[in-house]
Amino acid sequence: MSEISEMSDQGADKALLDVRGLTVRFGGLVALNALDLRVREGQIFALVGPNGAGKTTLLNCVSGFTQPSAGSLTFDGVDLLALPRRQRAALGIGRTFQNVQLFASMTVLDNLVAAQHAHLRANFAASLLPFGPAIAEDRRARAHGREILELLGIARYANAVAGALPFGVQKLVGVARALALRPRLVLLDEPAAGMPQTEVAQFAGALRRWRDELHVTFMLIEHNMSLVQSVAETVSVLDYGRKLAEGTPAEALANPAVLEAYLGSAGAREGAHADAHAER
Ligand SMILES: Nc1ncnc2c1ncn2[C@@H]1O[C@H](COP(=O)(O)OP(=O)(O)O)[C@@H](O)[C@H]1O
Ligand SMILES: [Mg+2]
Repeated sequence: MSEISEMSDQGADKALLDVRGLTVRFGGLVALNALDLRVREGQIFALVGPNGAGKTTLLNCVSGFTQPSAGSLTFDGVDLLALPRRQRAALGIGRTFQNVQLFASMTVLDNLVAAQHAHLRANFAASLLPFGPAIAEDRRARAHGREILELLGIARYANAVAGALPFGVQKLVGVARALALRPRLVLLDEPAAGMPQTEVAQFAGALRRWRDELHVTFMLIEHNMSLVQSVAETVSVLDYGRKLAEGTPAEALANPAVLEAYLGSAGAREGAHADAHAER
């Protein structure tokens, strides 16, 4: 192989998010077991696997809600584990939550505006600015918030009280809130859960546009396999905190071990999970 093609191979392999040997223990339970993953810039990377596989735990490690017991995590070459949660957000890592977490009594648009203000303040101490610029900042945050809601197809809810909306719409508002902060990497925890299938297709289109036009990288935890298959370049399958399979959606989901993990009877699996998680 020539030197040039080796160099370009390295470029193509360069990870935006590099997870190595990541291990998380909760008492005797091993939620992540020496996990290795690489997410390239501009990729929609799907993380799938049965409940309890460790998917949310991985997101929590990246965003700074959980400190791993061992391993390393780098984002664009920066050691994430040395940084507190706020600094990870300031680097451009956004996330959504499996159970949403909006300001329930505020409108949808105000949720997006509040998030942008908090983010600006954390990053640039903007609260020290005099009043005039703060008003301009507010106007910009509103305009940007509306734009995001339109791109996600939920602009009609801008003035609705967030807590009163159906769960599926609240999940989309959570995605909008993460995207409003102009992140480089967004971690989405089951965004399509509770979303009507008619809106899933529109959501898939919005994700692709964000990736293509704004070069945002996504790590997507999702049980909705039609969404995974329509947007993800790479699918990684977790089970018991380990990687079972990885590849294109067709490759990863056709793997016999993956079929077994998904199709094994629920009762048998619960017992098996407890056994496999217990440390000797
Ligand atoms: N804070 C915690 N304390 C103790 N156990 C936890 C905690 N968070 C997750 N777990 C356990 O770790 C395992 C992985 O959980 P999780 O990452 O939420 O799985 P997934 O998102 O794939 O469904 C589960 O067995 C879960 O019960
Ligand atoms: Mg989860």
